[in-house]
Amino acid sequence: MSPSDEARVLIRCTDVPVRSSLGQYAVRVGAGVRGRLPAAVEAAAPAGRCALISDRTVAGLWCKEVAGILGRNGVDVIEALFPAGEASKTRETWARLTDMLLDAELGRDCCVVSLGGGVVGDLAGFVAATFLRGVPLVQVPTTTLAMIDASVGGKTGVDHPAGKNLVGAFHAPAEVLADPDFLDTLDIGRRAEGYAEAVKHGVILDAAYAEWLGANARELLDGDAAAVEHAVVRSVRHKAQVVSDDEFEGGRRKILNFGHTVAHALELGSGYSLPHGHAVAVGMVAEARIGEALGWTAAGTAEAIRGLVRAFDLPESHPLMGRVHRLAGLMITDKKTRRGIVHMVPLREVGRTADRLGSSVPIPGDELLSVLKHISSSFV
Ligand SMILES: NC(=O)c1ccc[n+]([C@@H]2O[C@H](COP(=O)([O-])OP(=O)(O)OC[C@H]3O[C@@H](n4cnc5c(N)ncnc54)[C@H](O)[C@@H]3O)[C@@H](O)[C@H]2O)c1
Ligand SMILES: [Zn+2]
Repeated sequence: MSPSDEARVLIRCTDVPVRSSLGQYAVRVGAGVRGRLPAAVEAAAPAGRCALISDRTVAGLWCKEVAGILGRNGVDVIEALFPAGEASKTRETWARLTDMLLDAELGRDCCVVSLGGGVVGDLAGFVAATFLRGVPLVQVPTTTLAMIDASVGGKTGVDHPAGKNLVGAFHAPAEVLADPDFLDTLDIGRRAEGYAEAVKHGVILDAAYAEWLGANARELLDGDAAAVEHAVVRSVRHKAQVVSDDEFEGGRRKILNFGHTVAHALELGSGYSLPHGHAVAVGMVAEARIGEALGWTAAGTAEAIRGLVRAFDLPESHPLMGRVHRLAGLMITDKKTRRGIVHMVPLREVGRTADRLGSSVPIPGDELLSVLKHISSSFV
């Protein structure tokens, strides 16, 4: 990106405001919006120094350009990299990254820039939340999943052998720059993973959006610029609304976990080799079937979600869905499960949750096992 390109991008972007306890921040969406990064860093870090945290895959593709944009504008950049993939989202990687920042003698007047997908965002966010008791974070998401979902809302953290995201902190970003140009280097399968979260937003909040996603899946996967930007803005608006009203997940924010009770069990059971977007796709179909079996979800909803998942070539099943004792065990041992009782988001139908039941419903162990047995035949 040349300096003149950097100026151009300041004009063309959609800003979505998000409220947080640290103040309001903007999610800026638009092709080329990465050119705003120096301004974002200058606003967040008085020292003009930043730690650019990324994984090695993203770094090989984009770090040179992004560090160049920052360097040309007088920002001192310390690159801190780690191997790509969910397997890196650990306390050990967090410790190594933190050591790199200490070695570079960064102070509280620096900021962290996260350049990458959701794994980078969660890890870099946790480093920012804890380094010197907290420094500002600028999120630069490079996957659809991170643009559409993970970079917004301030949840940061790492996985633990006992479950997903079990160690972490809420740490709202100072700014999010969601630039769809980054998706040019992302293969089609990875692009699809992000749309699992977009489908989730439509399914829990916006039936018209769900329908639009189904009708435009091909354009989105092919990278049609207008369609991609529309999806990112619409998803970010939904997520922004929910997290602004309930930043620390005391209540309604829990609805964003639709599909994730099953998804996290599948991810844990696969040793974190199953991509998050795939786990969410299977999880949404499964949880809608469970809701139908338990009576809070309208008949036909799971089939409608299955159709959306298929439109994005996402998986609708997983071998663990047929191993009900193992699956129930994984769900119950997930340390987020309170006193061994699994909780699930009650979906009413595509576009709305069953709010009279609250944002999550407890399912006792014996009931869980019997409903998993009941739905398992539909997954073979
Ligand atoms: N904090 C939140 O609110 C939140 C929400 C949803 C998901 N998440 C987390 O996000 C993670 C999943 O995120 P993800 O799917 O983005 O995974 P990821 O960060 O592992 O990225 C997927 C792969 O794509 C590569 N990649 C990233 N950008 C690229 C680009 N532009 N071109 C080519 N390759 C690129 C990465 O190197 C990686 O190999 C999970 O850990 C999940 O728990 C967090
Ligand atoms: Zn998710």
